[in-house]
Order: sequence, then structure tokens, then C-alpha cells
Amino acid sequence: MTAPTLFFERVSSTMDVIHELAEQGAEAGTIVVAGEQLTGRGSRGRPWHSPVGGLWLSALYRPPIAGAIEIISLRAGLAVAAALEAQLAEPIRIKWPNDLMLEERKLGGILCEARWAGDVLAWVAVGVGLNLRNSIPPELGSAAVSLRMRQPDINEEQLQVSIISALRTLDLRAAKLTPAELSRFAARNWLSGRVIREPLSGTVSGLTADGTLLVRTADGAESAVRTGSIALAALPTRS
Ligand code: BTN
Repeated sequence: MTAPTLFFERVSSTMDVIHELAEQGAEAGTIVVAGEQLTGRGSRGRPWHSPVGGLWLSALYRPPIAGAIEIISLRAGLAVAAALEAQLAEPIRIKWPNDLMLEERKLGGILCEARWAGDVLAWVAVGVGLNLRNSIPPELGSAAVSLRMRQPDINEEQLQVSIISALRTLDLRAAKLTPAELSRFAARNWLSGRVIREPLSGTVSGLTADGTLLVRTADGAESAVRTGSIALAALPTRS
């Protein structure tokens, strides 16, 4: 039997709801969708503007092995990007680690939160936020984009169904990214070949199987970036 998809008109955050359900024993694959979030959250503790009109959902995982949470986030990003692209006339790229990009602008993001019982991973909640026809806060300016601005005729219902199905069938068995996943990521790597200045200066050169971003520094060495925000060195240029 398929795990349930629960719809709410308004919640604090679908992450809060999915954690509560997980605490009560909800099965892996349970999905929570909300029309609106009052205190939606993004990565690094940022608020996530979530008015009516966007796609705001969380999925519950109980991974068989405690792989790095960054890998789950990358896998979810790949799955959502593929589901989106199946309905869009434009490619979706991933700005490591969790931004879904339409050309130079952010269309959505992925947020992963793990809960532990001592040393044991109890569950992982994966949140997906996508700007469909919601308003974009003015302070984000041209950094963000909604689907309505690019493809107003999109079938939102079908998009939601295919994203939920892609998230439910996410394969988390391998502790590291497989060669196939790495090559899918390489094809979507928005940062590839771009020069960054934070968290270190260099040119993004790739991704490792443990989800670490590789950056080639001026001395020719490759350094690994595990966490943190990426800041581009200058105006983005396509590689
Ligand atoms: C990011 O790019 O910073 C991640 C954004 C994740 C937003 C989604 S919306 C559904 C789920 N509930 C939340 O409060 N956040 C995630």
C-alpha cells in the first residue's frame, strides 16, 4: 500500500508536520503538502516565503543506512529537477547543494532535516519548495523566479503528482552517489566552471561521490567544500 499524501490548507511549516507524524510512527513515503506556510524555513536558518500559489511539501524517509544528509538532498534535487524538466521547455540545473535553478534564477530549493535517536538515524524529512504562481518577495529581486513567469500553461496538478512520485521512489540504499547519479549531477551542475569567492576562491570543478563540491584554487590544487553558502566571484558567466 502506498504511504499517504496529506493536504493542509495552512501550516507553520510542512517540516514541522512531517516531523510530528514521524514521531507518531508515520511510514516512509508519507508526504505533507500545504497551500500556505506561515513560518516556512529555508536552508541555513533562513525564512522561506511560502504564500498561496507555490508548491510546498515535505517527504518522510527512514533510510536503511545513515548516509550523509547532503547526499539525500542531492538525490532529492536530482529527482525533482527531472520531474520538473519532464514538463518544462527549459533545463533545470542544481546549484549545489540545494537550489533548483532556471537559467540564472532560483526556482526552488530543497531542505533536509535529520532526527536521531542517540547514535541511530531515526528519520529524514526532505522539504521541497517551488515557486509556481506565488508572489516573489521584492527583496529577492531578480534572484528568484516563478514558473508562472516562464511557463504559465504548466499543469500544476500533474507536476505535483510527478514530483511526489519521484520523491517516493528515491533510492537511498547506496551510502555514496553512484556513477550514474554523479553523471546526472554533472549534467545539471549550475556551478560547474564558475568562479566563486566563498567559502573559498577558485573554479568549481566537480562533485565527489560523498556529495562534496570540488573547487580548483589558483595554485592548481582541488579543495573540497562540504558545507556552506557559495558566493560567485563576479557576474555569472556560462561555462
Ligand atoms: C532553500 O533553498 O533554502 C530550501 C527551501 C525549502 C523550502 C521548503 S517549502 C516546504 C518545506 N517546508 C519548509 O518550511 N521548508 C521546505
